[in-house]
Amino acid sequence: MKDQKGFTAWFTGLPCSGKTAVANRVAELLIERGFKVERLDGDIVRQSLTRDLGFSKEDRNENIRRITFVAKLLTRNGVAVLTSFISPYREVRANAREEIGNFVEVYVKCSLEVCKQRDVKGMYEKAIKGEIKEFTGVSDPYEEPLDPEILLETDKETLEESTNRVIKKLSDLGYI
Ligand code: ADX
Repeated sequence: MKDQKGFTAWFTGLPCSGKTAVANRVAELLIERGFKVERLDGDIVRQSLTRDLGFSKEDRNENIRRITFVAKLLTRNGVAVLTSFISPYREVRANAREEIGNFVEVYVKCSLEVCKQRDVKGMYEKAIKGEIKEFTGVSDPYEEPLDPEILLETDKETLEESTNRVIKKLSDLGYI
């Protein structure tokens, strides 16, 4: 096992922007290289650690606060942590940055139009019909990062290109 410096790469973006796909691919590559890696993903964490929470601003922020706590513990123990949550509110992302320290914000940017076309779980369609309330991008806000370490444009790049850009930046920052 390598002597590694812990960090958290925090993927944020609209639903279906590609957060999970890129974070999973980065995780695979880091594991291949022998790094200790942990993934924290919205759909999974919301079935366990934060299963009591919904999608109001308060609940989303509570979700992110609990995840921040876990990411902080892992980071300080030398793990490469890759999180993928919409995390729509700037203030709580700023708090995560402050708490975690070795923090790399990855804005997974993708036009709303392309996110809606992907609609992996059919949720945009339901949100547009009003069957899902407070859906990010349709009936709930997303506050774009103002100065992320990494800006991916998944509507213009391939998965491999986005992945390689994350790997390159983590290397330039001295984390890998
Ligand atoms: S966050 O806003 O609190 O960061 P998180 O990333 O954990 O959200 O969860 C998002 C996932 O919850 C989406 O991938 C989607 O499957 C599901 N979901 C259910 N309802 C909503 C909603 N109203 N808005 C956004 N995502 C929702």
